[in-house]
Amino acid sequence: MSTAVLGLQWGDEGKGKITHLLARDADVVVRFNGGPNAGHTVIDRGVKFGTHLIPAGAFHPGTLSILAGGMVVDLEVLAGEISQIADHIGRVPDLMVAENSHLILPYHRLLEELEGSGAHFGTTRRGIAPAYRDKAAKVGIRAGDLLRPRVLEERIDRRLALLKRLWPESAEMQALSASGLATELLKAAKPLIGSIGDATGRIAGALAAGKRVLFEGAQGALLDIDHGTYPYVTSSSTTFAGLGNSIGIPSPEVTRRIGVLKAYTTRVGEGPFPTEMGDPLGSELRERGGEFGVTTGRPRRCGWLDMVAVRHALFVNGATEIALTKLDTLSGVEEIKLCCAYELDGTTIDRFPLAAEALERCEPVYEVLSGWGESIDGAGRFEDLATEAREYVQRVEELTATPVGIVSIGPAPEQTIHRKL
Ligand code: IMP
Repeated sequence: MSTAVLGLQWGDEGKGKITHLLARDADVVVRFNGGPNAGHTVIDRGVKFGTHLIPAGAFHPGTLSILAGGMVVDLEVLAGEISQIADHIGRVPDLMVAENSHLILPYHRLLEELEGSGAHFGTTRRGIAPAYRDKAAKVGIRAGDLLRPRVLEERIDRRLALLKRLWPESAEMQALSASGLATELLKAAKPLIGSIGDATGRIAGALAAGKRVLFEGAQGALLDIDHGTYPYVTSSSTTFAGLGNSIGIPSPEVTRRIGVLKAYTTRVGEGPFPTEMGDPLGSELRERGGEFGVTTGRPRRCGWLDMVAVRHALFVNGATEIALTKLDTLSGVEEIKLCCAYELDGTTIDRFPLAAEALERCEPVYEVLSGWGESIDGAGRFEDLATEAREYVQRVEELTATPVGIVSIGPAPEQTIHRKL
C-alpha cells in the first residue's frame, strides 16, 4: 500500500514529523518536489533535525530514500545532510537521486540576490526559482549530467556565458568559471555518483512488487505553482497532481493520501492571508508554537484555520484523510475561530479565489468555538483529549467532509494519536 503526505496550507504544517513516523513502515520514501527551501523538523530517537532535502526514510535502516525528478537538488546541502544523518544512525543512508532532477548552482542563489526581493516576493533565498526557471528554459543542469563531466562543463559554460553578459556589473558572477563550478559539483557529488540513475524505473518496480512506498511532499498546496496563491508561491508542483509528473508514473496508485493540516495557519514570505491574526494573539501563538522558519529563521505570520483554503487544498490533492498537527499549541486560547466562508465585494463565497488580488479583498466569515484550558500534550487516545479539543477536530471533519486520521499533540513521535477510520 502506498501513502502520500501532502501539505494543505502554505507549508510548515508539520509534514516532517508525519513522514518520519510513517517512514518506519515504508520500504521506499520518495520526496517529489522542491529543494532546500523546505525545512522538515524531525525528532529521531530524541535528537532534533531540521532537514531540507533528504527524505525521511534516511533515518530508518533498510529504507531506500529517493529524490525524484521533480526536485531541484543542492549537492552541498545534500552531502551535509547525508553526513549528519550517517553520524547519527551509524551508517550511510540508502539513497537514490533521479538523473532528471535538476541541480542548484551557485549562480542560482546569486541571481536571487541580484534580482532583489521584489522579483521573488520573500523567497527562502536558496536559488529555487532560478533553478526551476532554467529547467523550463532548457538551460538547466541535471543530476545525470554529473555522469558525463565533459557535457556537464559544456552546459555550465553555455549558461554562464549568457549570465555574464546579463550581469556585467556583478563581480561575483564574473568571477565564476565553468570548470571551477564543474569541479566543485563533481567533488560534492562524489559520495552520490553511484546513486544517480533511473528513479522512475526504481519506483515503478517497487510499486509493482507491492512494496510500501511513501511519497513525501514539501511546501503546501497554497504554494503550488499552478494551484496556489500565484505569484506568491514556490516554483514546483506541491500537490498530488504534480506527483505523477515528478516521478514519471501517470496516476500512481496511492491509496492513502494524507493532507497535513496545522490546527491554525502560518505563512512565511509575502502574499494574501485572509485569516491572519493581529497581535497579541498572533505573536503569542508564534512564540508558543515556535513559528520561526526552519530554513530561514524568519518569524511566521500566524492566523486562524481557513476552511475555504483547506477545502481547495484537499480537492487539488485528492486527499483521503487529514493529519491535524499542533493541536496542543491552541491549549489555553479561550475562543477559537474557524473561517467557513469569505465575503468578497459584498457576496459570500465558499470557493477559494485563485487571483491574489481577489484573495486580498476577502474578509473571513468566522464561526467561534470554545477553547480548552488544560494541556492535552500527554493524551494517549482521542477520548483523552479535552471535550472542546475533540469538538474542534470533529468540526474540521464536518466542514471538510474528510476524516482526521491522525492528531498530533506535540513534536515527539509518541505525541501522536492514530484514529481508526
Ligand atoms: P521559494 O520556494 O524559496 O522560491 O519561496 C517562495 C515562497 O514559498 C516564499 O514565500 C517562501 O517563504 C515559501 N516557501 C518555500 N518553501 C517553503 C517551506 O518549506 N515552508 C514554508 N514556506 C515556504
